[in-house]
Amino acid sequence: MEKFTFMLALVVVFLSLFQTVFSANDSIRSFQSLGDGATLISKGGSFELGFFTPGNSNRRYVGIWYKNIAVQTVVWVANRCNPINGSSGLLTINSTGNLVLLDHNKSVVWSTSSSKQAKKPIVQLLDSGNLVLRDEDEGNSETNFLWQSFDYPSDTLLPDMKVGLDFRTGVKWRLSAWKNWDDPCPGDFTCGIEFNPQLHTYPDMPMLKGTTKFTRTGPWNGLRFSGSPEIKSNPLYGFEFVFNNDEVYYIYNLKNKSVISRTVMNQTTSLHQRLIWIEADKTWRTYSSLPRDECDKFSACGANANCMINDNPMCRCLRGFKPKSQEKWNSMDWSDGCVRNSPLSCKDKSTDGFIKFSGLKVPDTAHTWVNKSMNLKECRAKCLSNCSCTAYTNSDISGKGSGCVVWYGDLIDITQFAIGGQDLFIRMPRSELGKTNNKNTAAIPVAVIGGVLGLLLLVYFICRRYSKEIKQEEDLEVPVFNLSTITTATQNFSPYNKLGEGGFGPVYRGMLEDGKEIAVKRLSISSGQGVNELKNEVRLIAKLQHRNLVKLLGCCIHGEEKLLIYEYMPNKSLDYFIFDPKQGKLLDWSIRFQIICGIARGIQYLHQDSRLRVIHRDLKASNILLDNEMNPKISDFGLARTFGGDQTEERTKRVIGTYGYMAPEYAIHGMFSTKSDVFSFGTLILEIVSGKKSRGFHYENHGLTLIGHAWTLHKEGGSFGLIDKHLRESHHNLKQVLRSIHVGLLCVQQYPIDRPCMSSVVVMLGSESELPPPKPPGYFTETASIYGDNSSTQHKSCSTNDMSITLLEAR
Ligand SMILES: *[C@@H]1O[C@H](CO)[C@@H](O)[C@H](O)[C@H]1NC(C)=O
Ligand SMILES: *[C@@H]1O[C@H](CO)[C@@H](O)[C@H](O)[C@H]1NC(C)=O
Ligand SMILES: *[C@@H]1O[C@H](CO)[C@@H](O)[C@H](O)[C@H]1NC(C)=O
Ligand SMILES: *[C@@H]1O[C@H](CO)[C@@H](O)[C@H](O)[C@H]1NC(C)=O
Ligand SMILES: *[C@@H]1O[C@H](CO)[C@@H](O)[C@H](O)[C@H]1NC(C)=O
Ligand SMILES: *[C@@H]1O[C@H](CO)[C@@H](O)[C@H](O)[C@H]1NC(C)=O
Ligand SMILES: *[C@@H]1O[C@H](CO)[C@@H](O)[C@H](O)[C@H]1NC(C)=O
Ligand SMILES: *[C@@H]1O[C@H](CO)[C@@H](O)[C@H](O)[C@H]1NC(C)=O
Repeated sequence: MEKFTFMLALVVVFLSLFQTVFSANDSIRSFQSLGDGATLISKGGSFELGFFTPGNSNRRYVGIWYKNIAVQTVVWVANRCNPINGSSGLLTINSTGNLVLLDHNKSVVWSTSSSKQAKKPIVQLLDSGNLVLRDEDEGNSETNFLWQSFDYPSDTLLPDMKVGLDFRTGVKWRLSAWKNWDDPCPGDFTCGIEFNPQLHTYPDMPMLKGTTKFTRTGPWNGLRFSGSPEIKSNPLYGFEFVFNNDEVYYIYNLKNKSVISRTVMNQTTSLHQRLIWIEADKTWRTYSSLPRDECDKFSACGANANCMINDNPMCRCLRGFKPKSQEKWNSMDWSDGCVRNSPLSCKDKSTDGFIKFSGLKVPDTAHTWVNKSMNLKECRAKCLSNCSCTAYTNSDISGKGSGCVVWYGDLIDITQFAIGGQDLFIRMPRSELGKTNNKNTAAIPVAVIGGVLGLLLLVYFICRRYSKEIKQEEDLEVPVFNLSTITTATQNFSPYNKLGEGGFGPVYRGMLEDGKEIAVKRLSISSGQGVNELKNEVRLIAKLQHRNLVKLLGCCIHGEEKLLIYEYMPNKSLDYFIFDPKQGKLLDWSIRFQIICGIARGIQYLHQDSRLRVIHRDLKASNILLDNEMNPKISDFGLARTFGGDQTEERTKRVIGTYGYMAPEYAIHGMFSTKSDVFSFGTLILEIVSGKKSRGFHYENHGLTLIGHAWTLHKEGGSFGLIDKHLRESHHNLKQVLRSIHVGLLCVQQYPIDRPCMSSVVVMLGSESELPPPKPPGYFTETASIYGDNSSTQHKSCSTNDMSITLLEAR
């Protein structure tokens, strides 16, 4: 009897063992197996698992592919380097509960590696594309897997799959490309997160070719990867970066479950791409790729250099550094990189300092140290305390910034972005510190195509959306700074930190203890005003709060020393872009239109919406500063004059302003009003559209001014001819360009009464209503008396913070 039962059991086991699943099913249990030709299909029908033959190979592999896609797209392979000969492969669960792949003579070709034996093992293909091994007796736990294919990525990152490290289990989630189309065995092209737990480095996500870095996304800075400013909130996918005591990983998910998208590494093309399935074309389309350009190639410019893809040459030594080998550098061999002009002293800690660089992809993080709870000030101290520390910054730039990361040794693989880069404080010897020259910002205008494209749409919407939204903040307190704070920040008003000389005194660049940069206006004129009057004036200016005005941060009044502290704008002013053939290319029409609209709203606010009526009196391209996102900010209220009540016009004995922008009634008779600002604004529009300076413009043959030229073309119906040739080459909204020219001409009409007020201008720019025909403009032909070389304000190459305040002028 016992013998019989035993025999029966044996037969059952024997039969079960060779029972092959042929029907659609999503799982394999003990005593079941899956032979070549059969497949598992996930419950929702998204993925399929089975045997396949890649490319021109004749070997068999077990893999997972999309079920509903016409082109077989394998996302995961089990036996990547151990293919099976012929169709005798068999997938089954062995007696100790592991999934094994057997070849024709039943030897194990591949297997899972569960550390724990399941009582009732089940292998299931989930609808996420994850193949999991779990214990059916452990309930239907969604996460308690004994093994999962997501822990062993091939070349593809699916939604909800992690790339990174699990410190508890030691698992490394790394992608590796197929050797080639015929062979899924890993090539030498891999990608994962690099983190050294002993040194506690700043996690980065480099792509390697063998053991050499090939490109890197840059570390996660709280908002995005430092080197991928284009990876931002988008309609396709959401993403997350987790870095805690247990693990560090990157993960993404698709926002629309009916869209199919994945990222994949390809050895042949050396690209890591995000692809989207286009059902209509039955094809995968590229959504984004890395590396994007030469600057993305790891260390393209060598050590201590900065890569700017739109510059020629693209590599430049960081400020304070020079090429290690000038000869090699000249022949565009960047491999030796750059070395310091003068060495760090380090002996006496206080002699070294830092220069802030903006708009960067931060350097390679192999030699870094990170602490998430330190602030910027502590970070600076930390860096100063170690002679080999060369740079520091916030490890998380979201919000006001937090955390600390410091770099040791050479700074490698830095890229300069026009938009979306971040700050880095680089250690410099005292001798370099004074030489403030904005060199680093000269490098800013590098178009990052992806980012710019995204921005364009945004910009247009913002331009339209905010055209009515102008808010002011009431009752703003003016922070009062200590004189010692400011002297420290400006290194005792070091001449090296001087940005320029405005009407009422010099402007200095400075850095507060917390790393925030400021522009300090030192009022040199004894204004004859009492301290209380001065405070009142400052309070009035502080009330002028608008996104298109440079912000006053505070003041400092200490005996004879009267200082105004402004936000520092790292980017250059508008003139730097529009009048330069090379930089001009970076400002396409959408950005220019955004700038026009922004300036218009700023002036409208000064004229009408602030509680004070303010006439700027010196609107010009060099007084329009640009922030990181190319938003215009009007600066230099140097000639502004506040009016109380409804006083609208005034006559001044002292005409201050810049020729070329001044309305005729102001230049000739000293009459100024809001309409003279409108005139200046009209001139600005024409400059922005044409890329030509109003002052000194001398149209061949005609002796016309820019305004006269624009007017003539308009009359002849050929306004197209005014458009900057860079704009003509690129895509632009012609209707909008012509409309802007028209509005510009309305603003520069000869008689103030004919010119629209700024609120009408804002409406005209934002709508499509019919515009009245312009009457003849103010200046038609060039005359020496008006267009002489004697601008009353000095034009400085760096006019960034060339501000002055008229309110302090003796009356
Ligand atoms: C899978 O197969 C098992 C037996 O082989 C069967 O009991 C189960 O119902 C099948 N499941 C599906 C979804 O077909
Ligand atoms: C696979 O089959 C080919 C012929 O089809 C044979 O030459 C080769 O030796 C076989 N390899 C193995 C590992 O059995
Ligand atoms: C089942 O497979 C695993 C993994 O290959 C192996 O370690 C284990 O020894 C196998 N069990 C048996 C009984 O062969
Ligand atoms: C499998 O069987 C073939 C003959 O069919 C033999 O040549 C080969 O060595 C066997 N492989 C293993 C791993 O036992
Ligand atoms: C890599 O890209 C090339 C070119 O797009 C393509 O032909 C090839 O199939 C890709 N390789 C893999 C393994 O997907
Ligand atoms: C999701 O994508 C499908 C296919 O592209 C589209 O038809 C559908 O409208 C999208 N759904 C949402 C909510 O965007
Ligand atoms: C990080 O900084 C905080 C605050 O300074 C300090 O308390 C902590 O010990 C630091 N952690 C490490 C690992 O140094
Ligand atoms: C400075 O930092 C480096 C790199 O972390 C380290 O090796 C060295 O010991 C540190 N030196 C001092 C004096 O702390």
